[in-house]
Amino acid sequence: MTDPALIDELKTLVEPGKVLTDADSLNTYGKDWTKHYTPAPTAIVFPKSVEQVQAIVRWANERKVALVPSGGRTGLSAAAVAANGEVVVSFDYMNQILSFNEMDRTAVCQPGVITAQLQQFAEDKGLYYPVDFASSGSSQIGGNIGTNAGGIKVIRYGMTRNWVAGLKVVTGKGDLLELNKDLTKNATGYDMRQLFIGAEGTLGFVVEATMRLERQPTNLTAMVLGTPDFDSIMPVLHAFQDKLDLTAFEFFSDKCLDKILERGDVPAPFETRTPFYALLEFEATTDQRAEQALATFEHCVNEGWVVDGVMSQSDQQLQNLWKLREYISETISHRTPYKNDISVTVSKVPAFLADIDAIVSGNYPDFEVLWYGHIGDGNLHLNILKPEALSKDEFFDKCASVNKWVFETVEKYNGSISAEHGVGMTKRDYLTYSRSEAEIGYMKAIKAAFDPNGIMNPGKIFAV
Ligand code: MLT
Ligand code: ZN
Repeated sequence: MTDPALIDELKTLVEPGKVLTDADSLNTYGKDWTKHYTPAPTAIVFPKSVEQVQAIVRWANERKVALVPSGGRTGLSAAAVAANGEVVVSFDYMNQILSFNEMDRTAVCQPGVITAQLQQFAEDKGLYYPVDFASSGSSQIGGNIGTNAGGIKVIRYGMTRNWVAGLKVVTGKGDLLELNKDLTKNATGYDMRQLFIGAEGTLGFVVEATMRLERQPTNLTAMVLGTPDFDSIMPVLHAFQDKLDLTAFEFFSDKCLDKILERGDVPAPFETRTPFYALLEFEATTDQRAEQALATFEHCVNEGWVVDGVMSQSDQQLQNLWKLREYISETISHRTPYKNDISVTVSKVPAFLADIDAIVSGNYPDFEVLWYGHIGDGNLHLNILKPEALSKDEFFDKCASVNKWVFETVEKYNGSISAEHGVGMTKRDYLTYSRSEAEIGYMKAIKAAFDPNGIMNPGKIFAV
């Protein structure tokens, strides 16, 4: 869409100054954190109300203009990239928490509310919003819903899906739907709210979300444990899960720790270096819980699964231990890593990781491979750093074959090619490794029902 007359029409639908077409804005709002695409939107529009969103979608239908939703743009699958002349719809000005219901423990959010803003709001009310990840300071609730964001507390609290009590959406046809009316029990047929969660804006745009809040956790305590090999991590998980209600169980390799320590602003957990580390967290609500954790640690040491470990004794120590895991992604981002976000059921993790590790290092011994992730959920992040000797293009060409091997292995283990980062454009050509042709057929039929003109984030999840 380059017709200036269309831009003039678009300007009549929102407040003055809320359509931008300058090069800087197009470049900023036309992309997310995925680094392999060149942004090329025609315009950015900033609605301030549900009515304005509806007017934009209706106009786009008439004019057959493609729309791309834009939140905090922290996505890693190019679901918020506009590379084909689309109009980007930014929710930056729909960023208010509209109401709070103490009895229901819910907060009604506009889509542009930042995740950390909702977390802080909940804390101010003596409550807790448990979906958490490193980019929570920038990501927006609408984007979290669009990708069904996961993060570091999924083992206890589940994904964003679990926290959405109700949604208002504008469908691709421009209809405003109120889905589930914030009810806990509602047995009236299809739960269409769930369809819009994880749909990456391909069915419609979330314009309001009622988010559930939870009681605050008490005395969160973290342990970092060094393991002699990867296979020891799973029995450690099992041993701790038997004794404690874990709020997190993450892992990272020693190579990741190297990168974190090179920063110079995060202390090492302990002196011993081991090939892998597990980071677990639990509520030490009583002294007995902490004692149980220590006894389990000793049991793991006696079994030979753990070599060294540390338990946080203060909030500061808790934060420092979390930095070892949470800072990995941003610390390596300047190396333009090849990233993958894959999952299998927990019991299959060791064989799955060993298979992929062997294929990658067997074929590309010069690749620096970093493993970390949410291992308690069976979710692994495979990151490969570009060797100095290779250009970016040469590196990503080689990574195309890595993709193939990784996704063939995912298929073999009945896993997912995207555990929490979404499909977007980066994974859409590989969807058949995780979803059957029949399933994809039904998904396309659902898209056609809500978005018959194919204007809602086209080219994401499926090719156009
Ligand atoms: C993480 O777990 O750190 C995030 O999903 C980001 C990443 O995978 O790099
Ligand atoms: Zn992650």
